[in-house]
Amino acid sequence: MLIKSPPSSDCREGEVTPESVYLSRRGLMQGALLGVASGALPRVGWAQYSDVEPAIAPPWLQRRLADVQWSSSDERVAPFNVASQYNNFYEFGPGKTDPARYASTMQTEPWSVRIDGLVAKPGTYDLDQLCAQSRLQERIYRLRCVEAWSMVIPWLGFPLADLIRRVEPLGDARYVRFETLHRPAEMPGTRSRFSVIDWPYVEGLRMDEAMHPLTILAVGMYGRVLPNQNGAPLRLVVPWKYGFKSIKSIVRISFVSEQPESSWMGIAPDEYGFYANVNPSVSHPRWSQAQERRLPNTLFSPNVRPTELFNGYGEQVADLYRGMDLRKHY
Ligand code: MTE
Repeated sequence: MLIKSPPSSDCREGEVTPESVYLSRRGLMQGALLGVASGALPRVGWAQYSDVEPAIAPPWLQRRLADVQWSSSDERVAPFNVASQYNNFYEFGPGKTDPARYASTMQTEPWSVRIDGLVAKPGTYDLDQLCAQSRLQERIYRLRCVEAWSMVIPWLGFPLADLIRRVEPLGDARYVRFETLHRPAEMPGTRSRFSVIDWPYVEGLRMDEAMHPLTILAVGMYGRVLPNQNGAPLRLVVPWKYGFKSIKSIVRISFVSEQPESSWMGIAPDEYGFYANVNPSVSHPRWSQAQERRLPNTLFSPNVRPTELFNGYGEQVADLYRGMDLRKHY
């Protein structure tokens, strides 16, 4: 990435939300999202949960929030205010706080996604249609950025495989290509003459990676609608790969036969590969990937830990890469 380490003072250790607290908040958040009368909510005010503000979910999401399949994790979830204020979304600028500052200008309603290429059911689908037939699931995943920081984030979404099956890719569709919204009037980062990205932001997955049960399309996080800066209204989450593969604010999904060139490969192919699997023994040419800073952290408590191969999801995904030279296919 273009950006180097942020000041570690950005996040305070004391802001870590123990999972039990997160889970107990969840009922409250869900109630707020669904517009439940305040009398039905636990007797705690939003002021006590200042890191999670109530959000009004659009109608297509409201119905689905009533029937989420919740999950749990032993890991400490990052506070909402860290996950939603320390972001990479270059369409809104290169700084970590630029997305939170500027992404509210992005119009996410109405939103549709074009599905095209080698597929039996191409078309332009709205979000209601895209989510149809998929119950929303909570997935608490580690997100490991190639810049060597990480966070644990509770996403709400559904398996990408559900969508792929419904649109019926043809036999020669070997890869899936994703494209982000490109609307310069609403995206100051795309208008900057210092920007090195050839917009729109593009990413891709091999078909078996896209079909893997861990790969999801997220529409929310922390039991609420996805904030714009985190890629509203629809983003990819691929937890065993570096975060840049998890493309935000998707408007197009194409089924193709050739490996697509992603935005970062186009900028620096020797630094960012197509696979981008988290791997402690394959260094970035300019820094080591052996360790990572788990956010939130401080200068005095940097919260540094060893990086795990495939971000700790090896048991589930290592088979996808059997026989492959992971140094060559970084
Ligand atoms: N998607 C788009 N369209 N533009 C981006 O700049 N940044 C990527 C990824 N998806 C990016 C993107 C990077 S580098 C990371 S680490 C993750 O988003 C960060 O996701 P988060 O801000 O929700 O933590």
